[in-house]
Amino acid sequence: MSEERSFERTALDEILSHYEGQPGALIPVLQQAQDAYGYLPRPVIAAIAERLRLPAARIYGVATFYAQFHLKPRGRHIVRVCLGTACHVRGGERIAEQLAESLGVAVGGTTEDRLFTLEKVACLGACGLAPAMVVDGTTYGRLTPKAALNVIERYRREPAEVATQGGQAQDIGPSSQRGRSA
Ligand code: FES
Repeated sequence: MSEERSFERTALDEILSHYEGQPGALIPVLQQAQDAYGYLPRPVIAAIAERLRLPAARIYGVATFYAQFHLKPRGRHIVRVCLGTACHVRGGERIAEQLAESLGVAVGGTTEDRLFTLEKVACLGACGLAPAMVVDGTTYGRLTPKAALNVIERYRREPAEVATQGGQAQDIGPSSQRGRSA
């Protein structure tokens, strides 16, 4: 709460100075504010409402309508477990439960240390790798609950090293692990 009150205004002032007086500014302002702060704290929304001369209720309406906006702090790593049909029938639900238990958060929650946010998605577009999850930009496929926990542990231990793998799909199923040295 105190963090929300003491948000650093410079970034928001810069964003608003580009858009003030422009019609249709709200969505890009919210996107850039979220990029700057990681989420949309209440004082940021209040400041946007004041500068764009919009009711705060309207801004909350937009922010809650679009899934891309977040009103609560998010973790450094975003873990998205797929619960689409292909992943569901291959154990996606168990993976989500294991991760939730291990991280100590419900799906949709963020760990107290703000390292991880756990989310579910309907399909990652990687059904051939089911069950799958994405951590930041990297897809991990043919998971078991244990393999999913191992992935999370790697991010916990070696965040910088794992981050360099972003964007690559990784099949970490049993067949692919045979050829691994690590
Ligand atoms: S259902 Fe999980 S990737 Fe498509």
